[in-house]
Amino acid sequence: MYCVRNVTEDLYWIGANDRRLALFENIHPIPRGVSYNAYVLTDEKTVLFDTADWSACRQFLENLEHVLDGRDLDYMVINHMEPDHGASLEEVLLRYPNVTVISTQKAFMLMRQFGFHIDGHTLDEVHEGDTRCFGAHTVTFVAAPMVHWPEAMVTFDVTDGVLFAADAFGSFGALDGKLFNDEVSFDRDWIDDARRYYTNIVGKYGPHVQLLLKKAGAIVDKIKYICPLHGPVWRNDFGYLIDKYQHWSTYEPEEKGVMIAYASMYGNTEAAANALAAKLCEKGMTNVVMYDVSGTHVSYLISETFRLSHVVLASVTYNLGIYPVMHNYLMDMKALNLQKRTFAIIENGSWACKSGDLMEKFIQEELKGMTVLGSRLSLASSLQEEKAGELDALADAILASMAEETK
Ligand code: FEO
Repeated sequence: MYCVRNVTEDLYWIGANDRRLALFENIHPIPRGVSYNAYVLTDEKTVLFDTADWSACRQFLENLEHVLDGRDLDYMVINHMEPDHGASLEEVLLRYPNVTVISTQKAFMLMRQFGFHIDGHTLDEVHEGDTRCFGAHTVTFVAAPMVHWPEAMVTFDVTDGVLFAADAFGSFGALDGKLFNDEVSFDRDWIDDARRYYTNIVGKYGPHVQLLLKKAGAIVDKIKYICPLHGPVWRNDFGYLIDKYQHWSTYEPEEKGVMIAYASMYGNTEAAANALAAKLCEKGMTNVVMYDVSGTHVSYLISETFRLSHVVLASVTYNLGIYPVMHNYLMDMKALNLQKRTFAIIENGSWACKSGDLMEKFIQEELKGMTVLGSRLSLASSLQEEKAGELDALADAILASMAEETK
């Protein structure tokens, strides 16, 4: 049975959901599933915008057949060739061999690399600013390299103001019937998944996202719909979404607040983290969250680190080094180009406390634009009462740096 929705009178969402997949890209947990969005325009010509992951291929093809209603498919625009969107491309070619494939030179190269038999079909290589007319609708193509792969482009339907945004403006989370942003409570139910999607999938490429935002800014008054390849379609409140992207792509925190990420073997470092959290709240900073790095997938840690201004790293010393999962978290920050955060450090070690120096060295030498506060809480096995003054000083240093940033 087909499952489609109209976006406009002649534009249809024909995507599909995957709630069985545990790990997106085989690495990021998606407990709420994910949608693979594809769209069909039924103009004088019929036009498919992207395909779907192999796991969703059957539903996608059924949807496509239903919307075409016996018509042939004239064009297939591939904005992004990563297999979560391009994997069903060859199935489309087999069923609609007369289709003209419109995409970028790099995307055609990737199609061949993935083993798709595109040669012999009509291929239309497009470049920035090219246009194609399908009847009433004219589209223009905009290069979007590294958002999130090098071949990516976005397509803008200038007739109806529809931006086919590829990976930009997408989110983890399957669509439960509700397609549009104004059919859900995005800020309540979706923003955390949207942030986790952006920061872990595209977060590294902030400067490239900035370039795309500048291009989109030039036509923002003409955009009526944003159709991403994952998650809800946007048809209003663009300012909310663009503001989030502006923060994320410039690595500016969304909120003043403290994330305490702790690595604790027997609960003693966790106890110190708890004591600091309570102290911060007592002093009036209640936007505090705590995460056990051992029990929290790093994609959630990264997402929260993009959200908040201050990060406390509390780590035991392990094999004379940083606790491995804490180190992995730091490595992910580096990989994703995270910048502009203020760090405070709690270290623990029963006989050779090394984790504090090593974490500070990593932050100073491997990350960009970070600040490490001078106050540090050092523990020998556990937090004792005589350290109450140092704990208090650490909380004060965090609050003082927040006040300083507000000036
Ligand atoms: Fe959703 Fe970069 O693919």
